Amino acid sequence: MKNFAKKDELQQYLAKLRADGAVITFVPTLGALHQGHLSLIQQAQQLGNVVVCSIFVNPTQFNDPKDLEKYPRPIQDDIRKLEQVNCDVLFNPDVPEMYANNEKWHLDIGELESLLEGKFRPGHYQGVTQVVYKLFDIVKPDIALFGQKDYQQVLVIQKMVDLLKLPVKLVMCPIVREPDGLAMSSRNVHLSTDDRKRALILSKTLNRIKQQFTPDRIGQLQQEAIVAINNEPGVTLAYFEIADGETLHPANKNTKKFAALVAATVGKTRLIDNVIISD
Ligand code: PAJ
Repeated sequence: MKNFAKKDELQQYLAKLRADGAVITFVPTLGALHQGHLSLIQQAQQLGNVVVCSIFVNPTQFNDPKDLEKYPRPIQDDIRKLEQVNCDVLFNPDVPEMYANNEKWHLDIGELESLLEGKFRPGHYQGVTQVVYKLFDIVKPDIALFGQKDYQQVLVIQKMVDLLKLPVKLVMCPIVREPDGLAMSSRNVHLSTDDRKRALILSKTLNRIKQQFTPDRIGQLQQEAIVAINNEPGVTLAYFEIADGETLHPANKNTKKFAALVAATVGKTRLIDNVIISD
């Protein structure tokens, strides 16, 4: 695997491949890689000729400086995992390589900014669009892959691509789960043994809602889900919403694509999960 820390060197390398007709696919990450990330690399391999993965713990998307500080950074393990799945290129810049001092950024992403995750993490999606814009500009991928795990993030990035008419196709990949249903996340390492068990209430509740869903029972099902999660000791619910999967507005009987999305803090760890109920 080629490993670049400098954007100019990466760009030079990719320009040659692009000139030879290679289709470049791209998987941006914060590192601390798990099978969820690796599944994106594997799906990227099916769609193009060269897979670029970036590992960059992007400071501008963290609202909480403590969260940024304690974000896991096992770079040697990550490199080993990427080599095991035959990733072609790693881009692993440091902060000064990506940002000048006091750089400003604002993109009008409409209500996605203030709904669900946006409401609880002010500024988060500005930081995400800021860094993904920069990464797209450096890598110039034909196709970029993102996980359904961060469903709202996919909608936000698609909105940026549409607004700025960026020449990249986005692909959303399914959530990879542990055998017991917990959605894989770099943050799961912070869960104690007890919290790890308690966290299962999120995927269990999402699954039950998906199974029992009919459009005339939205309010009742949502209420039942909220009660079930609030009853789990050590779990503090931020939101549980049955939403329109395209706008993330609360769903109603006329909604076409339904999704259920949840965020909760388990012990001290904030987790998110979701299911697409119907396409
Ligand atoms: P990160 O949380 O590292 O996630 C990188 C990619 O992996 C995202 O597209 C995310 O949705 C996907 N992913 C995470 N867990 C997954 C799982 N269990 N199954 C499938 N896919 C999963 O998301 C970010 O980083 C950052 O915001 C980033 C886009 C890199 C911008 O900094």
